[in-house]
Amino acid sequence: MSENFVKQLDQIVAHGAISMSIALGDKLNLFETLASISSEENPATPDEVANKLNLKPRYVRELLCALACGEIIEVDKNGDKFWIKKEHQEIMIGPNKNKSFVKNSMFPSFGNVFHDIVGVFQKDGPYGMDYSSYTDFYETMSTLSQAYHKKTLVKDFIPMIGMKERLESGILVLDVGCGNGFHVFELASHFPNSRFIGVDITQKAIDEAKGKTNGHKNVEFLCMDAAKMNEEWTNMFDLVFIFDACHDQCRPDLSLKEIHRVLKPDGLFAMVEIDGTGNCYKDKQEKGLTAAAFYMTSVFHCLPVGSNSSDALGLGTMWGIERGKKLLQNSGFTNIKVEKSPGFEVNCVYLANK
Ligand SMILES: C[S@@+](CC[C@H](N)C(=O)[O-])C[C@H]1O[C@@H](n2cnc3c(N)ncnc32)[C@H](O)[C@@H]1O
Repeated sequence: MSENFVKQLDQIVAHGAISMSIALGDKLNLFETLASISSEENPATPDEVANKLNLKPRYVRELLCALACGEIIEVDKNGDKFWIKKEHQEIMIGPNKNKSFVKNSMFPSFGNVFHDIVGVFQKDGPYGMDYSSYTDFYETMSTLSQAYHKKTLVKDFIPMIGMKERLESGILVLDVGCGNGFHVFELASHFPNSRFIGVDITQKAIDEAKGKTNGHKNVEFLCMDAAKMNEEWTNMFDLVFIFDACHDQCRPDLSLKEIHRVLKPDGLFAMVEIDGTGNCYKDKQEKGLTAAAFYMTSVFHCLPVGSNSSDALGLGTMWGIERGKKLLQNSGFTNIKVEKSPGFEVNCVYLANK
């Protein structure tokens, strides 16, 4: 039994190592480049890959070896020429990379804050972490959101919440905690008659979103704490979204009350959250090892950013549906429903009216 456990630990180390190697390869554009200059019939040397990327060949060789031993790319029998299987290329390359591939890019930014997190755990340590401590957070997050939601956001999610016709005819929409704007841009380009406002608490997210606004006339981004939104917005929005941005607010209770205030009397609030049960035993049964990845993400990111004040609720990623429903009720919402949307496998969708 304990022998099996030791084997399990070895597997964990190997998978962690492969995950970091994937993230590094992705960051360096190594997969795109390798695919563009090689095939099973004509594999590429590390020098060829390195030259194309203007990188040091010795480092590129080592990373290619790690990826080949990890069965992410292929290597010839001499151990010095590499390629990517055809059927794996669309998973790792191009604008629509698979979410299971993209997820690996989260871990390096967690590694960056490892020692800070040790400090946060201490009784006399800081309350939590600031978003600015996470390198490339908004870019990583929008890449993840794209990988998770792009295929089904307009096709399945919008019809599921029953807002397709109203969005087509033209309504006013708010996205709370919009990050650098993936959902706003995606929806704005499909529904040109509607107007979209994205708010986020950090100026960095808003600056990045504004930098991508090129050509979109129906979007606006504002730096604003969702717990204290514009006073003139009462009863203003037909539709308010939160995409994965409730559980990592310090005072989501205040934000939800604000969303209730700014929603029109006949408006709809749609909140996309992580589909947790609030019970770690059940999460483990339902999600297996994936549940561990969610709790780990919570430890390294969602919990510390949502705990970063003396009055923070500190919900964490896996706070769970029952708690979510209660928070919505306490904020004045009615007709609260929790739905699943195709393609949003890790999420549940709360729908509610004023
Ligand atoms: C996990 S990210 C989600 C970003 C984006 N909605 C997405 O799905 O790609 C959470 C976002 O909530 C924002 N946020 C956290 N607390 C906030 C608050 N009190 N008011 C507004 N935005 C907040 C963060 O800056 C971050 O961009």
